[in-house]
Amino acid sequence: MIIDAFLVPTAIDENTYFSNSVVIMIDVLRASTTIVTALSNNAREIIITDTTEKAVKLYNTIDKQNAILAGERNGMKPDGFGAGNSPTEFTKEKVESKIVILTTTNGTQIFTRAKESPCRIVASFVNLSAVCEYVLNRVKNDPAVHSIILFAAGNKGRISYEDTLAAGAFVRHFHNELNCKLTDAAHLAKSIYEMYKGNITDFIRTTEHAKLLESLGFDSDIQIASTIDLYPIIPYIEGNSIKMLKATEVKNG
Ligand code: MLT
Repeated sequence: MIIDAFLVPTAIDENTYFSNSVVIMIDVLRASTTIVTALSNNAREIIITDTTEKAVKLYNTIDKQNAILAGERNGMKPDGFGAGNSPTEFTKEKVESKIVILTTTNGTQIFTRAKESPCRIVASFVNLSAVCEYVLNRVKNDPAVHSIILFAAGNKGRISYEDTLAAGAFVRHFHNELNCKLTDAAHLAKSIYEMYKGNITDFIRTTEHAKLLESLGFDSDIQIASTIDLYPIIPYIEGNSIKMLKATEVKNG
């Protein structure tokens, strides 16, 4: 078993590289955290688009009683959107049974990548242990899976320290539980996590994107996004749709 990490969404031959991999897609600040929160609050599904224009067009085709148009550009809610990308906006009252159409700067740009993978999961610190348990179960039950790939959203094509930290938390868990080899990128992420695991929130507050969010008034998002195991759910990706795995599906791995 190989544990690999893409710390920035680099171009790669998507037709072969991911076909025997479980892919864990990470955007700590904030798309993964927001998606986990919304599904935990019983949103029906998340539909992702890569542009705001596509999000608006899709929203206009759906019964607006049952849908929310959400997202951000440069951290802020675009004009005419019903919600931004703060997890605090995705309360049960607001999202229960609704379709959330979501477009963000980084997160929703990666969730449609690695389409050849048989299993793509949205993850962050808030669902860390649930994802680790599910993926371990999956790889133990499926001999076709040869690798686990941590796929970080990054920040506008560059390294995101908080995504690298989260990727390292996953690598460390799998390295402790599996007989596996780490690529250099996975090893780097694991080393970063081992350096800062004692105080994740304070560390994340020092990152570029956290400082931008703080300046925009989203300080509470940093606290939420760095809280381990807040929501024990598994969001899985199929095409442009992200839904929560049912308990039986989680159990069967
Ligand atoms: C995102 O895609 O989640 C972005 O990285 C930015 C944000 O939500 O502030």
